[in-house]
Amino acid sequence: MNILSIIEKKKHQQPLTKEEIQFFVSGYTKEEIPDYQISSLLMAIRLNGMDDEEMFYLTEAMVNSGDVIHLSEIEGFKVDKHSTGGVGDKVTLIVAPILAALNIPVAKFSGRGLGITGGTVDKLESIKGFNVELSQQDFIENVKKHHIAVAGQTGNLCPADKKLYALRDVTGTVDSIPLIASSIISKKIASGSDGIVLDVKYGNGAFMKTQEDAKVLAEKMCEIGRRFGRKVVYTLSDMNNPLGRYIGNKVEVVEALDVLSGNVANTHADLIDDCVEVASLMYMLATDCTKEVAMEKVKAVMANGQARDKFLEFVQAQGGQVADLKTNATAYTVEMTANAAGTIASVDALAIGELSVMLGAGRLTKESKLDFDAGIKIVAKQGDTVQTGDTLAVVYANIPVTDEMKEKAVSAFTIQ
Ligand code: URA
Repeated sequence: MNILSIIEKKKHQQPLTKEEIQFFVSGYTKEEIPDYQISSLLMAIRLNGMDDEEMFYLTEAMVNSGDVIHLSEIEGFKVDKHSTGGVGDKVTLIVAPILAALNIPVAKFSGRGLGITGGTVDKLESIKGFNVELSQQDFIENVKKHHIAVAGQTGNLCPADKKLYALRDVTGTVDSIPLIASSIISKKIASGSDGIVLDVKYGNGAFMKTQEDAKVLAEKMCEIGRRFGRKVVYTLSDMNNPLGRYIGNKVEVVEALDVLSGNVANTHADLIDDCVEVASLMYMLATDCTKEVAMEKVKAVMANGQARDKFLEFVQAQGGQVADLKTNATAYTVEMTANAAGTIASVDALAIGELSVMLGAGRLTKESKLDFDAGIKIVAKQGDTVQTGDTLAVVYANIPVTDEMKEKAVSAFTIQ
């Protein structure tokens, strides 16, 4: 077997065997096959696709490339969730404590943000003292004691995916359903939970631009997960508009706490609805109850303060300072106002995500240093009515807000 014959096969739209897939994944991970040959193969996969068998073998090869976390020490059905990423997506910060408050163990490994999509690990690190680098034993102990732990991915979880993803990022091969599906599911399988809820986003602020593509991706991921014997379900959600009211790091943590505290004035129904949906699916997976029962349970712990208390317990358990969970402080606070009257037809999630990166709240490269306090508040959401001069958004920055940033913020709002 050699890499050239594997590239030739995929170029001619022939399915690869399990052995061929293992050969290239393992050869690339061990640096025995160079980037240029794997780039060529990735492009052939991007153009010619993979069938379900190939996707499963690719996922399996990436899982087997590194450590697999065993959660069997933790009693009960362990449930995880994964969002394909979006702007203002702080759903994990809200649903994980909800499930923990319902005594369902949540053992979650999360990622950092890159580009316009934020990452849970960055958001948690914006809380003073919060430790996302738990040892495997501390991680398991925290789940046993508090029913919740959220940590950054350990160094050796799916190293093949880490290398392949970095190469895809610079070779125009990210937007491939088989490559995305195997990349996401390999990390979920390696992190050990019994059930996974996929929150698959579509729209201009998401990887999948259309609902149809998001559905195909979601179904492929469910199929792969089931082949590994895991329970996997999905929900599709709109990412044409930012989720909730805040985009950034600290501002999103504070918004999550507001949702859990019932402070609805400081958030938006789109975020609450998405959280209730995802949390209910997680509860259904863990308990086999009906959707109605799950929604009732979820709403009950949101209303009676148990989920908020669990969030605070979780922050403290990982070293975070609860007193720091208040609004951010920045050198500049600039209001963006409407230059016309009308109804907000949409708020461009992509533009708002790009603005957050310009402010330092998101990363352009893996090495970029974040400004945890920078961010944006969306005051006028889709469907709201505004008059000329009304506030559309507030920008929080520690660098001067340039005309280019102001223009980006204002033009994100389509007023009809
Ligand atoms: N997230 C991942 O982990 N992998 C992808 O390929 C895309 C999004």
